Amino acid sequence: ATTIAVTAERAQPQRDQPATLDQCRRCELWRNATQAVPGVGPRKARIMLVGEQPGDQEDLQGLPFVGPAGAVLDRALAEAGVVRDSVYLTNAVKHFKWELRGKRRLHKTPAQREVSACHVWLEQELEKVGPEVVVALGATALKSVLQDGSATMSAVIDAPFQHEGRWVVAVYHPSFVLRARDEESRRQAYDVIVAGLRQALTLGP
Ligand code: URA
Repeated sequence: ATTIAVTAERAQPQRDQPATLDQCRRCELWRNATQAVPGVGPRKARIMLVGEQPGDQEDLQGLPFVGPAGAVLDRALAEAGVVRDSVYLTNAVKHFKWELRGKRRLHKTPAQREVSACHVWLEQELEKVGPEVVVALGATALKSVLQDGSATMSAVIDAPFQHEGRWVVAVYHPSFVLRARDEESRRQAYDVIVAGLRQALTLGP
């Protein structure tokens, strides 16, 4: 299958929307980012995975989920029997938000106004790809997918539901596994991700 990056290049520019994602100035995050990171995957993927925002590695490489969180996601996908190249992978926010700690660029959670400003790009990806199932990886993704800044994971985790004609599966973000305080919590969070990905395989119209 041909894997393409669905960028905004072919989008119809609107008055308040730049022609390309990389030119986006809808919020201030572009200033400190190396580049915008578009989603990647097959044009008509059945499953779309939505993360939060690019991390340090993703910002440098211009690709989603290629850093440590991506390694956890890869393991979970393999365990769930989902082929990475068969799904469309993207983020709720397309520029890396970070702060300097020593020499490291540390991830900062995007503000709701930044998530809302970036939603137009996710919407465009949803329209183009038309997935049957959207897997929201963490709360930021869930808020963007539902366009509801007050959406919480606890209300929907482990319970797929339908939204605007497609299934939504909410699972923890892979970084949550990396940050969990002990082995037991790491295992539990990881198992939720694997179970959600397995569910995504079975859900359909
Ligand atoms: N975390 C995300 O949410 N997305 C990425 O692409 C990388 C890390």
